[in-house]
Amino acid sequence: MNSFKKFLAKTTATQLIRVSFSRPALLENPAFLILMNRVFSAMAPSYDRLWQRMGTEAEVLGPLEAGLSRVAPPPDWVLDLACGTGLATFHVHGSFLKAQVVAADLSERMVRILRQKLEESDAGPLHALCCHSGALPFGAGCFDLVLTQNAPPYLEEMVRVLRPGGSLLLAYSFVVPGAVHGVIRKRFTGVGLEDLEIAAAGHGIAVTARRPRGELR
Ligand SMILES: C[S@@+](CC[C@H](N)C(=O)[O-])C[C@H]1O[C@@H](n2cnc3c(N)ncnc32)[C@H](O)[C@@H]1O
Repeated sequence: MNSFKKFLAKTTATQLIRVSFSRPALLENPAFLILMNRVFSAMAPSYDRLWQRMGTEAEVLGPLEAGLSRVAPPPDWVLDLACGTGLATFHVHGSFLKAQVVAADLSERMVRILRQKLEESDAGPLHALCCHSGALPFGAGCFDLVLTQNAPPYLEEMVRVLRPGGSLLLAYSFVVPGAVHGVIRKRFTGVGLEDLEIAAAGHGIAVTARRPRGELR
């Protein structure tokens, strides 16, 4: 991708991230959910090719990799929210081969493509399902690691399904440096997460935090 397109990707993504953290109620707006579903379902068949044009694998997945390197001990159960066609899902599976990895997305078409890839790759303990990140069909505290890459942050639900002491990871491949730290810090503190770290990686950032072992504030 040339530098102008990269600049455009960074500025657009930065504004979307700012809005999604500063106005979380917007993420639950039914019209917003319909829009997301339609846009990404339309994009699903060409989604992988699109990402290949955005940059090298190292550029796109750099922030995710930086975030995963901070996750210890290795998780048993991982949830990859808004997984799309599984770009992050397969990477997480490669990093934690023994973990059960559950991938979920709002768009049925995205999930269908991921399921097809799973069948073809025989990749191991990976599971795909269709659901809204803001209303997950899991009980409280089921996962050791909950993550999402380049997607809206449904923080309350992510924290609910995370076990006490578990890790949360948000990876954004393209962000203007320093432009979103304030809104992210405020939201993370608001939901009671600890050990927040926002690290620059590649053209983006990795945001990691931990659910406290005791009661949430
Ligand atoms: C830019 S794509 C990122 C996909 C994938 N995480 C990746 O890194 O390639 C955003 C994804 O978020 C999904 N999405 C948007 N809103 C969602 C929601 N409320 N619940 C679950 N998935 C959602 C879309 O369907 C789309 O697959």
